[in-house]
Amino acid sequence: TIKVVIIGGGSSYTPEIIEGFIERYHNVRITEIVLVDIPTGKAKLETIASLAKRMVKKSQLPIRISYTFHRREALIGADFVTTQIRVGGLEARIKDERIPLKHGFVGQETNGAGGIFKAFRTIPILLNIASDMHELCPDAWLINFTNPAGIVTEAVIKHSPHKRVIGVCNIPFNMKSGIAKMFDCDVRDIEIEFVGMNHFIFGKTVWLHGENVTDEALKRLVEYNQSYSPANIVSLGWSKPFIESLKMVPNPYHQYYFQTKEVLEKDLQAFQDIGTRAEVVQQVEINLFETYQDTELMEKPKELEQRGGAYYSDAACNLIESIYTNKQDIQTVNTFNNGAISDLKDDDVIEVNAVITSEGPRPLTIGSLPNSIKGLITKMKNMEHLVIQAATTGDYNQAYLALLMNPLVANEKKAKTLLDELLEAHKDYLPQF
Ligand code: NAD
Ligand code: G6P
Ligand code: MN
Repeated sequence: TIKVVIIGGGSSYTPEIIEGFIERYHNVRITEIVLVDIPTGKAKLETIASLAKRMVKKSQLPIRISYTFHRREALIGADFVTTQIRVGGLEARIKDERIPLKHGFVGQETNGAGGIFKAFRTIPILLNIASDMHELCPDAWLINFTNPAGIVTEAVIKHSPHKRVIGVCNIPFNMKSGIAKMFDCDVRDIEIEFVGMNHFIFGKTVWLHGENVTDEALKRLVEYNQSYSPANIVSLGWSKPFIESLKMVPNPYHQYYFQTKEVLEKDLQAFQDIGTRAEVVQQVEINLFETYQDTELMEKPKELEQRGGAYYSDAACNLIESIYTNKQDIQTVNTFNNGAISDLKDDDVIEVNAVITSEGPRPLTIGSLPNSIKGLITKMKNMEHLVIQAATTGDYNQAYLALLMNPLVANEKKAKTLLDELLEAHKDYLPQF
């Protein structure tokens, strides 16, 4: 019997992970699932808990679902803990998106100034969760989705006594399924060697049925003229010279870095027409929760695909299965570099293919970074270090440096403007500053 605690259980994504556990029950007997949230999330949590119970009932499996606001009690006896929280809710995300946009910068939940502030709000809470785990369920694995997932994972694994921490994201799966569409095959027939960090990975080599098809994949990517974006990001496509010289598959978030002006134009237009992504998500959520309240509903509804994180749960469920069964298959996770990329430090967290064992992930060797992205990757990693430094100390100058060195800010006066406005806007959720 296995106990899983889902922190941020009131998330509209939760039915997806419940479905994942039900589908895998024959391989991993998860018998107890506790949903944890905070009192302001009460209504959502109750709706999700009763839908989860109906889903379990339909499956006829002996899985016990409960919910609570008492995180520490829930953690006792846990084997796996997943974190999917949004500190400050969508209201805070709206500020992360609007304030940079207003000053002519990318406003996004995991990139640029907005992503940095999401890290500032999230890291202290995740550190508390990890330290509770160290005390109450020291052998349990923390599987973190909470964005910016790579930075948050690195902060926790480095700064808390609890070391069993793994970060996950749906983008690696999303990239594989994009390639599978181009080759008209099943996503399981595609393998990609990834290099980089969360929301900043490149596909370095692509295999179809074990055959290296990288060149063909790149050719088709240009012809396809889209970026295989999840629901939350524009899909502008990539030019021939970009792909032919880079010789790697970018991820959709790279549009913010390599087509900054074009994305900003689109985002500003969307902002005027329908609001920022967070405002769109607010409406999607209202509709989703109305659907969830229908007591006839016994399964995850199709409409959940309107969220950018759709399919996030596969990553978590597969990971839990492989850790629990010591499967030693390969999955893409956020974990310590441990020599995989020779240009980075061992304790830098990267998003990498790793063998998943009962002792955790063992990253596969990549070697040296391709020259084309060496500068950018090390710069981004350095920026992430500044973010973590600032988030854990509350040091104003470190925070300023994090913004300044972020390629999507990189303006010495505006970095201060953004910093001061965002610090003020988020002050209720930034006790460290
Ligand atoms: P959401 O706004 O629905 O928040 C989820 C729940 O967290 C809410 O019910 C909220 O009340 C709760 N919460 C907030 N602070 C909490 C705390 N301190 N303790 C416990 N619960 C708390 O958010 P969402 O859209 O479901 O996303 C949740 C998180 O997961 C976000 O950080 C998002 O960026 C991330 N996410 C990541 C991926 C990925 O690929 N890694 C995919 C999807 C979502
Ligand atoms: C992507 C990312 C997630 C992110 C999500 C946003 O898939 O990988 O990390 O949280 O989209 O989706 P949303 O529906 O909240 O805009
Ligand atoms: Mn992600």
